[in-house]
Amino acid sequence: MQRENFRILILDDEKSFLLLMTKILEDSGYVVKGFTDAEEALKAVDQFSPNLIITDLKMPKMDGIMFMDELKKKNEDMDFLMVTAFATVETAVEAMKKGAADYITKPLKDPDQLRIAVSKIYERQRLTAENRMLKSEMFSDIPPIEIVFSGIEGILKDIQDVAPTDATVILYGETGTGKTLIAKIIHNKSGRSGPFVDINCAAIPETLLESELFGYEKGAFTGALSQKKGRFELAGDGTIFLDEVSEMSPALQAKFLKILQDRTFERLGSLNTIKTNARVIAATNKNLKSLVEEKKFREDLYYRLNVFPINIPPLRDRKEHIPDIANYIVKVISLRLGKEPKQISADEMDKLTVYTWPGNIRELENVIERSVIISKGTELILPDLETPNEMSSGHGAAADLKSIEKTAIENALIKTGGSRKNAAEMLGISLRSLQYRIKDYGIS
Ligand SMILES: Nc1ncnc2c1ncn2[C@@H]1O[C@H](COP(=O)(O)OP(=O)(O)OP(=O)(O)O)[C@@H](O)[C@H]1O
Ligand SMILES: [Mg+2]
Repeated sequence: MQRENFRILILDDEKSFLLLMTKILEDSGYVVKGFTDAEEALKAVDQFSPNLIITDLKMPKMDGIMFMDELKKKNEDMDFLMVTAFATVETAVEAMKKGAADYITKPLKDPDQLRIAVSKIYERQRLTAENRMLKSEMFSDIPPIEIVFSGIEGILKDIQDVAPTDATVILYGETGTGKTLIAKIIHNKSGRSGPFVDINCAAIPETLLESELFGYEKGAFTGALSQKKGRFELAGDGTIFLDEVSEMSPALQAKFLKILQDRTFERLGSLNTIKTNARVIAATNKNLKSLVEEKKFREDLYYRLNVFPINIPPLRDRKEHIPDIANYIVKVISLRLGKEPKQISADEMDKLTVYTWPGNIRELENVIERSVIISKGTELILPDLETPNEMSSGHGAAADLKSIEKTAIENALIKTGGSRKNAAEMLGISLRSLQYRIKDYGIS
């Protein structure tokens, strides 16, 4: 809230004092409306909807306390600042017991007396409003648009253009860059009435993926005890988000292509053709084009998917924006953990901007969460963030990241005595994506 949006209604039957208060507060930047008559002031409240009411206590027709009582009936939280002559300070104290925020005495010894009293109430309301906003942010999984797109404003423009259309969108970006988040934002901006349904093609075992996507009829296979709708059907008129789309088997790629071409599919075990209106958004951290060249991904599917590609750059390519993003994450995480928001000192912020963030914003979130938990004072203490030298150059980074990941997987396999299931759990990834990586890195 800004001062020019902070509305103050003043009621004082003493015209000269009313004008003085009005002038002082208008000069401070507030919006002020003054009244000498209580009835008129009461009538104006609904329309003007003040943030603060300043009222004289002693007035002929209706005194300040009655005036406050009347308005508190409508809005219990309304803030009142009482104005009182020296002689009636006790009445002012009485008024505060009845819910006035503060009082000042008249005549004013100093304009600051009024300025300070009002500014305290203004600041308190501003903080409450900010907290309320933060709380709503805390319960939504979507950060404010300025934060999500800081440093990648061009993407926001693309999204605004494409969101309301039916076009298929594909999001390219390393892990943790915000692909899922941006897919949700596209859906929210699309104006579609149906839900946002997501499915991670790498997290679901290949054999189940098909029935998850298309659904099945009772008896379609052993274990299909009743009919089940697939994600395409569940998405209805909404959006279906296919994450890690490169991980589809060739058979599934063919079925998926058919959906993109004629917008129809069949449940497993059924000949009934079902039409889908769901908007398709896909995402991958792979270079699909190269996979096509390596014959690992269908070329025709690639062209169907690549209608509206959006490249989300890694965090290290938007370093100037790390402070904004980090400050936001600190605020939200502190609030979520019920802690006072901590400051990030310039030195600590340097650490955050120098580091190359292979896990991008998700890694930044994890580092900040750990730091918020362990930092005792008002300043955030970060762990050492080690950046191997080779990672500073483009190609080296990818190669190095691979070798770090490979080592981590090997170590996990050694620790778990070769159990892939336990190793996947230890690494916090799905069994399928562990198996995929084992194959990819040639770990034996
Ligand atoms: N600009 C941002 N500001 C704050 N938080 C963000 C921002 N972008 C992403 N995040 C958060 O970072 C986390 C990772 O984002 P998200 O899950 O969308 O990444 P992803 O690219 O889908 O990752 P993956 O490849 O692992 O699926 C989420 O918690 C998300 O809310
Ligand atoms: Mg994701």
